[in-house]
This record gives sequence, C-alpha cells and structure tokens, in this order.
Amino acid sequence: MSIRIHPSILAADFTKLGDELQRVTDADYIHVDVMDYHFVPNLSFGLPVVERLVSASPLPLDVHLMIDDPERWASDYAEAGANSVTFHAEATDRPVEVARSIRSRGAQAGIAIKPSTDIGPYLELLDEVDLILVMTVEPGFGGQKFLESTMPKLRRLRQVVDLSGLELRVQVDGGINEDTIVMAAEAGADTFVAGSSIFNAQNATEQIALLRARAASHVHH
Ligand code: DX5
Ligand code: ZN
Repeated sequence: MSIRIHPSILAADFTKLGDELQRVTDADYIHVDVMDYHFVPNLSFGLPVVERLVSASPLPLDVHLMIDDPERWASDYAEAGANSVTFHAEATDRPVEVARSIRSRGAQAGIAIKPSTDIGPYLELLDEVDLILVMTVEPGFGGQKFLESTMPKLRRLRQVVDLSGLELRVQVDGGINEDTIVMAAEAGADTFVAGSSIFNAQNATEQIALLRARAASHVHH
C-alpha cells in the first residue's frame, strides 16, 4: 500500500488558512482536527469551518473528531464533504453505528484509539471501517512528543490487517517527524499525520518529500 502524508492544519496559521493549504499541495490529504473542550481539554473548530475547508482545499479532507457524542455529529461531517471521518472509540459505545452513519453519507469511516486504549476489542470491527488511527500522543494538542510505547499495538494491528486481506489504512498521529516516522513505518503504519513538523518547516514541500522518503524506505511491504 502506498504511503500517505496528511499535514495537520492544527499547526497552521489560522489567520491565513487558505494560504497555508497552498503550502502543502504535495501531500495526500489535509488532516483536520475537530475538538470540543469535552472529549479533549482543547477547542479548535467545528462544522462551519470544515464546510469552508471542503471548498477551499485542493486536497481531500481527513477529519479527526476528538469530540463526545459522535453518534450525533459524525455523519454531518461526511455530509459536509469530508472524504474521511474518524471518530474516537472511547467516545462511543456504538462504534458500528457511527461507522455506518459515516459510510452511508459516502465518506470513508475511521476509528481512533488513544495511546492507552487496547486495540483488542476493535479488531473485530475491521470490516466496518476504512482506517484505524493509533494515536501516538494523547489527543488534544500539537507539538507533543511521540510515544514509542504505542508501537507494540501498531505491530499487532498491522499483522491482523494483513491477515484480513482488507483494504484498510493504518494511520498514526502525533509527534511524527523525520525520525519518529521511521519507527511508525517499521511498526506497520502506512498513513502519517504530521502537524508541527510540516507547518513549522521553512519549506513544507521539502519536508513532505523528506517524510515520504523516510517512511518509504522503512515500510515493510
Ligand atoms: C493531536 C492532533 C494531531 C496534531 C498533531 O490531538 O490529533 O493531529 O495536530 O500535531 P503534531 O504533528 O505537532 O504532533
Ligand atoms: Zn489529529
């Protein structure tokens, strides 16, 4: 499976989002972090901003919902035109229902787990989703340190995904830079979210190329 790089606009300059999107056109998707002050102790933006991003972005949107009550909200983001919508497993006890509500609106569905959440219970939902996100930092803030302790979980997920034969993306998010991307690629990720390492770079295009090359030379299939 090809490598994908998803710049997270949480690290972009919010006063000029349109220009910031133009800096990262060599990437694959734009990662959009929605936070609600409840599921995580931070607030970013919601549906009205995502609706505008859908029309302003040259790349498809990968929406990461760090919110409570995804049963209520996830399908609205799919409806707004996000290409994929990822919700947190910890935020719902009805993950299959949420995934189906996203897919029924024509978007890809993703399920995310925090660093301390066991992957085990979610391995049986693999055919209900298109993407699994293993958080490599505690969700809520950009610029945190990559948690290597999540790598065993990632390895296990990769094994199960390969055995399943399903076309599933294995995504990592948090603390990804040119060094940590190697560990995540080796452990089995194929889709990499990077916020500060891309938007804080002088030349975002070069940074995306560097991340892609580093991941490609360590991804194991
Ligand atoms: C964290 C967000 C991430 C964040 C990553 O809660 O989900 O997408 O923007 O930022 P960096 O790459 O700076 O860790
Ligand atoms: Zn994210």
